[in-house]
Amino acid sequence: MEDTRDMNIPQSIAIIMDGNGRWAQKRGLPRNMGHREGCKAVESLIEDCARLGVKYLTVYAFSTENWKRSEEEVSGLMQLFRYYAERLLKKAKENGVRVRMIGDRSRFPEDIIASINKLEAETRDNTVMTFVMAANYGGRDEIRRAAMRYAEDVSQGIRKKGELSEADFSEYLDTAGMPDPDLLIRTSGELRLSNFLMWQCAYSEIVITDVLWPDFDKAELLECIKEFNGRKRRFGGV
Ligand code: FPP
Repeated sequence: MEDTRDMNIPQSIAIIMDGNGRWAQKRGLPRNMGHREGCKAVESLIEDCARLGVKYLTVYAFSTENWKRSEEEVSGLMQLFRYYAERLLKKAKENGVRVRMIGDRSRFPEDIIASINKLEAETRDNTVMTFVMAANYGGRDEIRRAAMRYAEDVSQGIRKKGELSEADFSEYLDTAGMPDPDLLIRTSGELRLSNFLMWQCAYSEIVITDVLWPDFDKAELLECIKEFNGRKRRFGGV
């Protein structure tokens, strides 16, 4: 077992979970089997991160662009969420984890919206870690929705025109009140941000691993944290 006592554990980790499709393809299985294995990896990761002392774990579960996938794959992902919502609730409760969803949930079927609301409501007071699920999420869409809410507040006289700091604007984003990711991990070797947390990742350290998402486990997580520990963060300074 690896000794993690000397590690600097990032407060906030964000993950682009890529490679479920390839994992399945390699085994001659349908893509949705890859997503199913991907869900298991998420479940273990929640527990691992909570125990390590991570305070915020954000995962890219479904992007605003993922609706373009086949009807079969999209409905498979919805079914998977239906199945995993209860398991997730149990896991969250066992580990003192609060669940939050970012993204535009209004496009999901009614029953899924209800289970997201339930997950959030029943874990609201948990303090060990916050698990953030990005679903129907896109960084540009989030900024667009924030801009609309801000404009509405200006027109209502709640905000004064011409006065807006970065911190003020952050409060209109879905991630209001959460710290920016210290570490952004992307699996399966792709070197893209793919519209994930574009505002919030301005100064995040990016670690890319070739591992396909269903194979991502605690050992891989610790490798990523080790790489993060070797970085010098300057936030634009010298
Ligand atoms: C990327 O792999 C993965 C997705 C688009 C979906 C990820 C969703 C999950 C793992 C489920 C999350 C579940 C919960 C409960 C949070 P890909 O299909 O793009 O893989 P590929 O690039 O190899 O085709």
